[in-house]
Amino acid sequence: MLPIVMILPMRREYNGGDRMSDLVTVILAAGKGTRMKSKLPKVLHKVGGKPMLEHVLDAADEAGAERNIVVTGFGGDMVRKTIGSRAEFVEQTEQLGTGHAVQQAKPLLNEETGTVMVLCGDTPLLTGASLKKFVEAHKETGASATVLTAIMPDATGYGRIVRTPAGTVERIVEHKDATDEERKIHEVNSGIYCFEAADLFQALSQVTNDNAQGEYYLPDVLGILRDEGRKIWAVAADDYEETLGVNSRVQLAQAEKILRTRKNRELMESGVTIMDPDTTYIDSDVEVGMDTVIYPNTWLEHGTKIGECCEIGPSARFQNVKCGNNVTGQFVYAHDCEIEDGVILGQFTHIRPNTHLSKKVKIGNFIEVKNSNIGEGTKLPHLSYIGDCDMGSGVNMGCGTITVNYDGKKKYRTKVGDDAFIGCNSNLVAPVEICDNAYIGAGSTITQKVPEGELAIARARQKNIPHWHDKRK
Ligand code: UD1
Ligand code: MG
Repeated sequence: MLPIVMILPMRREYNGGDRMSDLVTVILAAGKGTRMKSKLPKVLHKVGGKPMLEHVLDAADEAGAERNIVVTGFGGDMVRKTIGSRAEFVEQTEQLGTGHAVQQAKPLLNEETGTVMVLCGDTPLLTGASLKKFVEAHKETGASATVLTAIMPDATGYGRIVRTPAGTVERIVEHKDATDEERKIHEVNSGIYCFEAADLFQALSQVTNDNAQGEYYLPDVLGILRDEGRKIWAVAADDYEETLGVNSRVQLAQAEKILRTRKNRELMESGVTIMDPDTTYIDSDVEVGMDTVIYPNTWLEHGTKIGECCEIGPSARFQNVKCGNNVTGQFVYAHDCEIEDGVILGQFTHIRPNTHLSKKVKIGNFIEVKNSNIGEGTKLPHLSYIGDCDMGSGVNMGCGTITVNYDGKKKYRTKVGDDAFIGCNSNLVAPVEICDNAYIGAGSTITQKVPEGELAIARARQKNIPHWHDKRK
């Protein structure tokens, strides 16, 4: 008899801390971020359209982390709500230092025998590739603890790496505790480490708060392990920018700029033309197809996907827009909508949520479309408001046509059939249906169904009064 093979799905969610993994991360995110001057916890501030902590989690996942444990404190509820099930959480009720923060994760790590990587929630520029390299280096050397260092042009505020004359790491000294001589060191602690789990917690239990800040410093673990004769190691980051920590709004803007430059470069290298990268703002998760050209002053934000051979901008803002190939859009604001191949948008066009534009639709000047489906090849060339409308294909909406969708209490839908021809300045008072091939005379206010192929004219007849000018004299 053949054995029955069961393939179980990979489980990532928390199962009580009794699972063993090769790589677990502990991400420190309990601090208030006082210098941000914000009600929002620092790690939830966004760069590249995404909270900083999510960037760190993405990098951890890419580096092969099987479990991510986030240490929360200030605004913990907000952090848990934003991150959801992709991490486990422990609370640090009092912020007594980075060593104390890691200690809080101990109950979740009791069974772990592998590597624990400690990360900070405020370093959004780290890439998964760099973290992966770092973990591999830690494993290769067989060190008990490895610290990721960086050569900072301005090392002020950072912990400094003090090396022995032989070049090995002796200890890390915090800026506030450092001597003038030590402050001249440019090699800094990035705040990122790999530890062997058992060594980490036995050394942590020996850390004291006898220092300038009265805090339990995580970096002290390295000195303790070294004194015990264990191997400690340091790996310098290739690019110091990746390790930059965000502590203020100024640093937030700097991180934003670095991330955007990186994203633009990535897209250009994949075959997208960006006319002016300095005025093009593309969030990290946005996808853009080959041979698309992006004109200046363009924002492509969270959830947006642009196809191939499109021309986007100048001055376009797309938020969560799914866009096909060969789409043109200039001076457009589009959000939470779908745009199929060959659609032409703009200029001064607002495409609002729950709108679906089928292939080759043309939305022209000063048009707003909301919660509507527009069929293939339909044209709305000028000055229209279309809300709550299901429109067929090949329709021509005359200039100034509007759907009257709201009676002050409720919204109603308008239905327009295929190949209908709507004269200029018409009001379609919903709920109402215009059937296939129907015509509407210009200036009509339509309140009743217009059957297939018929012409509806709903306006006062014209009356001419002769000699009017002479009579008035
Ligand atoms: C820390 C390091 C320093 C390093 C720098 C790199 C220590 C003592 N110093 O300093 O060597 O050069 O990072 O950026 O570790 N946190 C908690 N709970 C606490 C304290 C901090 O969760 O009780 C979190 C913070 O939210 C933050 C991270 O730990 O995400 C680092 O704390 P922070 O206060 O920014 O440490 P630095 O002074 O920057
Ligand atoms: Mg910091």
